[in-house]
Amino acid sequence: MTSGTTPVAGLNGRLEGRFIGLGVTGSIAAFKAVELLRLLSAEGADVSVMMTASATRFVGPLTFAALSRHPVEVDVLELLPDERIGHIVIADSADAIVVAPATAHWLGAMANGLAGDVVTATVLASAAPVVVAPAMDGDMWIHPATQANVTRLRDGFGYTIVAPVLGELASGQSGMGRLADLPAIVDAVVEAVGRGPVRAPEAARRPPLASPAREADLTGRHVVVSAGGTREAIDPVRFIGNRSTGKMGIAVAAAALDRGARVTLVAANLEVAAPAGTTVVRVESTADLRDALLRIAEDGFDALVMAAAVADFRPVSHADHKLERGSGLTLELEPTTDVLAEIARTVDQPRPILVGFAAETGSLDRAADKLRRKGVDLLVANDVAEPGSGFGTDTNRVTIFAADGTRDDLPLLPKRAVAEAILDLVAAALDARDRGGQTGS
Ligand code: CTP
Repeated sequence: MTSGTTPVAGLNGRLEGRFIGLGVTGSIAAFKAVELLRLLSAEGADVSVMMTASATRFVGPLTFAALSRHPVEVDVLELLPDERIGHIVIADSADAIVVAPATAHWLGAMANGLAGDVVTATVLASAAPVVVAPAMDGDMWIHPATQANVTRLRDGFGYTIVAPVLGELASGQSGMGRLADLPAIVDAVVEAVGRGPVRAPEAARRPPLASPAREADLTGRHVVVSAGGTREAIDPVRFIGNRSTGKMGIAVAAAALDRGARVTLVAANLEVAAPAGTTVVRVESTADLRDALLRIAEDGFDALVMAAAVADFRPVSHADHKLERGSGLTLELEPTTDVLAEIARTVDQPRPILVGFAAETGSLDRAADKLRRKGVDLLVANDVAEPGSGFGTDTNRVTIFAADGTRDDLPLLPKRAVAEAILDLVAAALDARDRGGQTGS
C-alpha cells in the first residue's frame, strides 16, 4: 500500500529500533494517520497510537490496534493488561511523539496545557520531542487564535510544526489547511528523533505487543457463553438472586466475537448490555438456563463458557400471588440441578470445550476438585472477597485450573484481559481436539 506519493519500498529504516507515539485527533484527515502508521513502521519504528474521543468517530481504534499490534489509548484512565497506565508508558518510553492530524481545538488545548484527552495528556507527561501536523479548514488555520497557538507550540515549547498545505479540504473548497504530505511528516519525525540513543530499548518498558495469532483464532467456532445471575421466584414480585452483573461473561462474549466466533449469549438478568453481533437467549431461572442450554446443545457448539452465577437453591414451591408480610415467612429451599455437570455428562462428540467458573471466598482449594466433579476442561476460580475481584468490578484476579492438572495464576487484570486468557486456552484446546489430541477431559 502506498500513500499515493511515496512507495513504502525503498525506505531505509531511519527509525529502526525507535518507539514512536502517534496521536490522532478528530479531523477528517484521521484516516491518513493509518497510512502514516504504515510509513513509520516501514521505517522500522515500533508505533503506539493514542486517539481523542472524536478521532474514534473517524477511524476505529481496532484498525490502529491491528496495525500497530499495541493497545490503542483512548482514555487517560485506561490501564494496560499488566496494570501500567497506558499513556504514561508511552510518554516515558517514546523517542518522539507525532500528532497528526492535529485539529485547531487540540492545538488550543495543548498550547494551554489542558490535559482533557489522552493525546494532550501524553505529550504533557513526556520529555520526548514532539512533531505536530495540523489539518483543518483554511479559515481556521489563518485565524489569529490558531496562529498564536501554533507559535506557542513552536517557539515556546520547541515542537516541530509540519505546516498544512494548499489543497482540497473537507468542505470541498480549496485552501491552506490540508494535512501535509505524509513523507514530510515522516521526515520531521526522523529529524526530531535525531541520532541519539534509543530511549527505552527494552520491550518491557514499552506497551505490550498483542499476539497477532489471536485475532481470528475462533473463526468458524460456535461459542456459547452464559452470563449474569439466575433468579428463583418466591412469589410474582420477589426472588432469590445473587450479585452477578454479567460483566465477566460479557467480556468473554465480546472477546470471542472479536476473535471470529459465532457467539450465543445465554443472558440471565444482565446489568450490562450484550455485545452487538451475539445471538441473545434471555433466561430468568436456573431451570430456564438449563432448558436453553440443552436446546442449544442439540444443534451443537464448540465451547461453553459458563460465567453465569447460577442459583444453588430454589424455593420448593412459589406462590402465584404476592405474599403478605403477615407474621413472617419461612422458605423451604431445594438444590437446583447442576447444569454444567449435566451438560458435561450429556454432550455429543466431538466434545465441546467446557469452562466453569467458581466464585469462592477465602481459598481456591476446592476449585481443582470442582473441576473434576463437574467434568469440565477448565475451571476459572476467583476469590470474590478480594478487593478488585468478583461481582460488579471491571477487574478480576483468577486462577485457571485445567483438566490436565496445570494451573495458571493470573495477576489482577481487566475482565477483558481475563477473557482473552481463557479464550487462548479454549482456542488451543479446540485445535488439539481437532488434531485428535484430545477426546475429552
Ligand atoms: N453451575 C451450574 N449449575 C448450578 C450451579 C452452578 O451449572 N446449579 C455452574 C456455574 O455456572 C459455574 C460452576 O457451575 O460455572 C461452578 O459454580 P459454583 O456455584 O461455584 O459450584 P457449585 O457446584 O454450586 O459448588 P458449591 O456451591 O459447592 O461451591
